[in-house]
Amino acid sequence: MNPSSPVVAVIGAGSIGVAFAIVFARAGWTLRLQDPDPQRLKTALDEVADRCADLSRYGLLEETPSALCARISLHADLETAVADASLVQECAPERLDLKVELFRRLDACAPASAILASSSSALPSSRFAGELPGRARCLVAHPGNPPYLLPVIEIVPAPFTEPDVVERASALYAEAGLSPIRLNREIEGFVFNRLQGALLREAYCLVRDGISSVADIDKVVSQGLGLRWAFMGPFETVDLNTRGGIGSHAQKMGPAYARMGAERGQQDPWTAELVATVESQRRALVPLEDWEERVAWRDRQLMQAARERAKRDRD
Ligand SMILES: NC(=O)c1ccc[n+]([C@@H]2O[C@H](COP(=O)([O-])OP(=O)(O)OC[C@H]3O[C@@H](n4cnc5c(N)ncnc54)[C@H](O)[C@@H]3O)[C@@H](O)[C@H]2O)c1
Repeated sequence: MNPSSPVVAVIGAGSIGVAFAIVFARAGWTLRLQDPDPQRLKTALDEVADRCADLSRYGLLEETPSALCARISLHADLETAVADASLVQECAPERLDLKVELFRRLDACAPASAILASSSSALPSSRFAGELPGRARCLVAHPGNPPYLLPVIEIVPAPFTEPDVVERASALYAEAGLSPIRLNREIEGFVFNRLQGALLREAYCLVRDGISSVADIDKVVSQGLGLRWAFMGPFETVDLNTRGGIGSHAQKMGPAYARMGAERGQQDPWTAELVATVESQRRALVPLEDWEERVAWRDRQLMQAARERAKRDRD
């Protein structure tokens, strides 16, 4: 073990806690995994080892599962688990009362320099850390599930979070192999679950209205939309779908999307100003003169994915 590598305390050894333990231990860091439930503590390390065995089979682990597990210690006691931590990753259930009490205890016992990050899926940290003396070191760091396979992590500072804490947290997650994005301010559900929620809301409506079946809606994503989303987001997708880029797409499709939104009671038209903002950010990433080349890149990405699917179907 590198003596200068960070010590991370993961609080709560459920689905996300176990998965985060893999992320940080895989980075070579010392990991303290805490849970008040003795049953969870009993099985957590076996779960880590099983998932690491799978990662090894796919060539995604550079050491043996037991070497990784050797960096993880298990703790029933919160104070012991966080005593020498530089990052505390809270992964307890999504309940406001529980997070309020847990953050109160964490702020009282973690070293003053430790960052206190919550994995919260929807609750912003101002809901549970706003009254604490050490609130400046608190924020949300929301992962995908499981974070050792989905690298994105949403860093969500509260208005009281120290900018240096945001910087340090982002750097730590990046060093652990994650891909941090920063929100400019708190909003329930953050970006990940807001995007997921928008799609789910429409999917539920389509089932409710008898337009399509659950299986067919899932197929539209797994055999269509999702194949592109595996390597690019919704803005890049439509930017590359329409000659002239996303501005041209908004002109052609904006009115139809506005009608679909209004049908669902949503009044958020893509104004000219909003489209101009989105377009200028896209053009800074891919200038129009590189558009054809980027479209060819997209097609090669899809070909690679198609080849892998065909291989998987043969195996
Ligand atoms: N499951 C997901 O897909 C997902 C994705 C991203 C974020 N999250 C968030 O991560 C957090 C954990 O979710 P999960 O799915 O791992 O839940 P989970 O129910 O699988 O695990 C929660 C763990 O916390 C333990 N726990 C309960 N009270 C505790 C306390 N006071 N102190 C410490 N540990 C305690 C439980 O024993 C359990 O092992 C939640 O805030 C959730 O919203 C979940």
